[in-house]
Amino acid sequence: VPLQAFNSFGVVAKAHALARIASEDDVIALMAASAWGEGGLFVLGGGSNIVLTGDVKPLVLKVEIKGRALVDESPKHFIVEAGAGENWHDFVAWTLAQGYPGLENMALIPGTVGAAPVQNVGAYGVELQDRFESLDAMDLYTGQVFTLNAAQCAFGYRDSVFKHGGPIDTNSPANAGHLALGLKNRALILRVRFALPKVWKPVLGYADIEKKMLEHGCDAPTAQQLFDWVCEVRQAKLPDPKRIGNAGSFFKNPTVSAEQCADIIARDPKVVHYRLTDGSVKLAAGWLIDSCGWRGKSVGQAGVYEKQALVLVNRGGATGGEVMTLAKSIQTSVYERFGIMLEPEPVVL
Ligand code: EPU
Repeated sequence: VPLQAFNSFGVVAKAHALARIASEDDVIALMAASAWGEGGLFVLGGGSNIVLTGDVKPLVLKVEIKGRALVDESPKHFIVEAGAGENWHDFVAWTLAQGYPGLENMALIPGTVGAAPVQNVGAYGVELQDRFESLDAMDLYTGQVFTLNAAQCAFGYRDSVFKHGGPIDTNSPANAGHLALGLKNRALILRVRFALPKVWKPVLGYADIEKKMLEHGCDAPTAQQLFDWVCEVRQAKLPDPKRIGNAGSFFKNPTVSAEQCADIIARDPKVVHYRLTDGSVKLAAGWLIDSCGWRGKSVGQAGVYEKQALVLVNRGGATGGEVMTLAKSIQTSVYERFGIMLEPEPVVL
């Protein structure tokens, strides 16, 4: 099965087998047929955060579970639920149209609702975990459906319990129900619920958004205005995966100690950095890469985007190998100059 259309990088690769999942019953039927035998499985959402470096041997589960609705409310929140296969951006637009603001800062993030908790997506000061209520997932080895709250998802910066663990021997009773082992390749997210505030306040403060406020002479934007501005900012500096293959930011923004940061500032006073409440400092990986001269450069058909050095792009026909070679060269030069090892953000297969 060709996977080029199923990964936003647009890399050419094949899956040995692919099953479309529209409901829990589809998973149960596959389990009954022992569809994942020896090879294991890989859960695919929108494919916007993966790098395929070859053909995929595990059975690919393409999640297409649909549906979105207001399912509950509390004194302070609307609880809105969406199927894992819903497109993220369309869902954000829908919540606003229904009168449930709160997700607008995360407009235009590529991918699906079910993939959003896996890496705890975030943009312009709001992360998924800030609006998360709970999710339902299915254990792909027992068929059991379970619900996780935010604490159980172990959200971190572009991180969650769904990014850890890897294939484990789930036939062993010792492993049954052990969330601590991580849920990577073990659980399939079915539905996600969001708690959206009834009393809404805009989340501002990011430079790009502040600029829009000045431009429009507006200091109290509505959720819809904020949504529109976020879309404009993203369209201006991030490539549209429909036109130029990419997986968003390719590296995480690294965190360093105050001392390490002081060393770097002493040599590179312009380094873009944000002090965190615990005293550590987050550095802009895009700036580090840019200042090593990588912006606009290429290795084969894999390149560094001209308008944002944190984004690696497919200039047409790039292989996953070329993308990873470019990524490693970038890691090496950032390490040699700053002593910092950048950590890739997408899942490499
Ligand atoms: N910068 C440069 N040169 C570059 C790129 C960036 O000097 O080539 C500087 C910018 O001028 C800015 C700073 O680096 O001062 C930060 O850049 P930007 O505001 O574009 O944000 P980012 O830190 O690169 C993060 C997220 C994005 C998210 C934006 C906005 C990560 C890994 N990335 O990018 O998320 O949209 O902030 O909140 O945290 C993603 O995760 O895929 C993603 C796109």
